[in-house]
Amino acid sequence: MTSADTAMDDGTIAVIGAGYVGLVTAAWLAETGRHVRVVEEAPERLDQLRRGIAPIHESGLQELLTAVMDDGRLSVTDDIADAVRGAGIVFIAVGTPPLPDGGADLRQVRAALGQLKKHVGATTVVVIKSTVPPGTTQALIESSRRDRLKAPVLTCPEFLREGSALHDCRHPSRVVIGGDDESAQARVAALFEELNTVVMQTDATSAEMIKYGSNAFLALKISFINEMARLCELIGGNIDVVADGLGTDPRIGRAFLNAGLGFGGSCFPKDVAALDETAGLHGHYFWLLKAATEVNLQQRRRFVVKVQEAVGGSLSGKRMAVLGLAFKAGTDDLRQAPSIDVIRQLVDFGAHVAAYDAVAGPKAAEIIPNVTICADAYECVRGADAVLVVTEWPEFITLDWRRIAGLVRRRIIVDGRNLLDEHVLADLGFTYVPVGRRPGKKSLRRRNASALLPSPAVG
Ligand code: UDX
Repeated sequence: MTSADTAMDDGTIAVIGAGYVGLVTAAWLAETGRHVRVVEEAPERLDQLRRGIAPIHESGLQELLTAVMDDGRLSVTDDIADAVRGAGIVFIAVGTPPLPDGGADLRQVRAALGQLKKHVGATTVVVIKSTVPPGTTQALIESSRRDRLKAPVLTCPEFLREGSALHDCRHPSRVVIGGDDESAQARVAALFEELNTVVMQTDATSAEMIKYGSNAFLALKISFINEMARLCELIGGNIDVVADGLGTDPRIGRAFLNAGLGFGGSCFPKDVAALDETAGLHGHYFWLLKAATEVNLQQRRRFVVKVQEAVGGSLSGKRMAVLGLAFKAGTDDLRQAPSIDVIRQLVDFGAHVAAYDAVAGPKAAEIIPNVTICADAYECVRGADAVLVVTEWPEFITLDWRRIAGLVRRRIIVDGRNLLDEHVLADLGFTYVPVGRRPGKKSLRRRNASALLPSPAVG
């Protein structure tokens, strides 16, 4: 019996990869009393973590990280052998970035499994937390066995929303554990037994299908409501009221029916593309996924056309003030953010763009060229020919719009998230262009800031 084969302690856990999923999961596991070792290779991220600094903006994470690091329940290393020593369960939470053809790049997952082969025995359970397309884990289980990895390999997909990821760890809508080793699955299920939630044990491919199906279905919902919004703009009706009406049917539900600039982020665009690619590889043409993606792109183009129309036809030489850069409120994440596409198009049409985002602004300066990143919203709107709301940050609702009316060159607002109160803005002399209803047509309801914060319920 090698040292790797001795009985392992499920109270000691290793997490490989300190990205959004790995770090949040690790912090939550430490909060539940386990000893967690996090493996991170990227020198800058590792250095930040060693100093106790959360490298991502995620509600409550910094506080929790400080607490669990201070009492020694979470530690960070770049040495995988060190991290997995004595660990009963090892989570792989490395990145699976999109490949040019839409598929997922699995190199980091394979590399982690290759490393584990040298350092873990049959009594450790390896859990893939990274998002991998349907069929991947089963193939990895088989190849790992051929490669003599003794540890059982499972998948436990994540359903965490950025901005409320810790909340989602503490109150998951469900936990899905896929694989073909029931006793290993039971050990992983035990990690979640104190949570009042459904724990599903299933085969690996069904688990992956649940993960991709959830994201793809929610993306379809968003693209559906955005198409309905377009119809409301053409025929009449108010999309926010229509969404409320649809949402009262419990078979439909109100979540993910907010029309606007569509979906961005690290998950929906990537997972829809990967599922579509996987379907194609198996000879199935997934019409709905292609349509959802196309509608999503059109939504961004359509927004720029609206801006163009609102300023009288040409964007050349016009000053645009973009409020919000993150792909959604509550995060600093700019991956696949609508703001990037929108700003690129505005710049291509010759506009000068100033942008403000309290959280994502500093990161944006590196990613989006030809844009002036402003320190506050008032600086951003100064001299603007139009103010564009791109991310649904609640702080935009409570800006001093009277002051803004005095700072802009022209009082035009194109609201890509139906965030602002058009009654207030109309009284201040603004032309307000919303999504999914004709400009100037009064909304039947007002929005408030608290309604826009991430809701505890998963859609
Ligand atoms: C998503 C899933 O919700 C989560 O379960 C999974 O683990 C990761 O992907 P996230 O990417 O954090 O989470 O964001 P989410 O809140 O789901 O929103 C995704 C995108 O859809 C955002 O760009 C958001 O602005 C957009 N969206 C969401 C809408 O346009 N309308 C809506 O009604 C809801």
